[in-house]
Amino acid sequence: MNRIVVIGSVSMDLVVTTAKRPHAGETVIGQTFQTVPGGKGANQAVAAARLGAQVEIVGCIGSDEFGQRINQNFEQNGVGTSHLQTIDDEVTGTAHIVLAEGDNSIVVVQSANKQVRFTETELDQLLDEHTLVLLQLEIPMETVEQVSAYCRSRNIPVLLNPAPSQALTDTLFENVTYVTPNEHECRDLFGDIPLEDLLRRYPNKLIVTEGVNGVRFFDGEMIQHIPAISANVVDTTGAGDTFNGALAVSLVEGNQLQEAARFAVVASGLSVEGFGAQGGMPKRDDVTRRLERV
Ligand code: RIB
Repeated sequence: MNRIVVIGSVSMDLVVTTAKRPHAGETVIGQTFQTVPGGKGANQAVAAARLGAQVEIVGCIGSDEFGQRINQNFEQNGVGTSHLQTIDDEVTGTAHIVLAEGDNSIVVVQSANKQVRFTETELDQLLDEHTLVLLQLEIPMETVEQVSAYCRSRNIPVLLNPAPSQALTDTLFENVTYVTPNEHECRDLFGDIPLEDLLRRYPNKLIVTEGVNGVRFFDGEMIQHIPAISANVVDTTGAGDTFNGALAVSLVEGNQLQEAARFAVVASGLSVEGFGAQGGMPKRDDVTRRLERV
């Protein structure tokens, strides 16, 4: 079976819910506070594992209680952790999340995630042609660039989720197989170019997620639009990560992009019905049942 290697961030999410998002300089009274496992890399790994893929997480945590909880969470979800490194004298990354007015705002403190680096020999041991690599941008950009160049030279497919958005070099963009920004990240990356023009430039490569408006990409002949499913929204945190994890699962199973995107849109739509980045991530059967109704 082909496997997915997620090289990315592993964090603890510190989540407050509040009726009103505070303005700069304002203090508001919130309702609840919880700590739940998160980090875009970890979320994508858990999403893929829940959907039945063989998944390995590659990242760094601190030698603290958050790190221990995160490790247990990976085990419970069937994510391989033999390349999850505990860094002494470092703390686990955290994401400080405000859930208010139906949406989230997030401040990420990278901490141990800044230590994700490789030698060429380590990459040789980690990756082969049966691997699909998932990357995001909460670890050092040099690492993302190094891994992408390595994979390109060995024909290993890479799915890059460019979040949170940062400028990408042309080389990085060329080295990856799929790029999956949301509409805001897409604007940050490419400016105000009309979306359809942009999609036509990158057939079967640029896949743009648009929340309740679904997903679009260009298949070489026409723009494909996969509509979102209707959902009872509890928390949208992690919906993009579920999309990326699910897309990777369907692609390693050998499906075409259209089918993979449909699978991922359904998984992502279901994920918003639970609290926390990983709380609503569906299992395979949930997605299969919902796909039959679409
Ligand atoms: O994509 C959602 C994730 O972004 C959260 O889990 C948080 O950790 C931030 O990194």
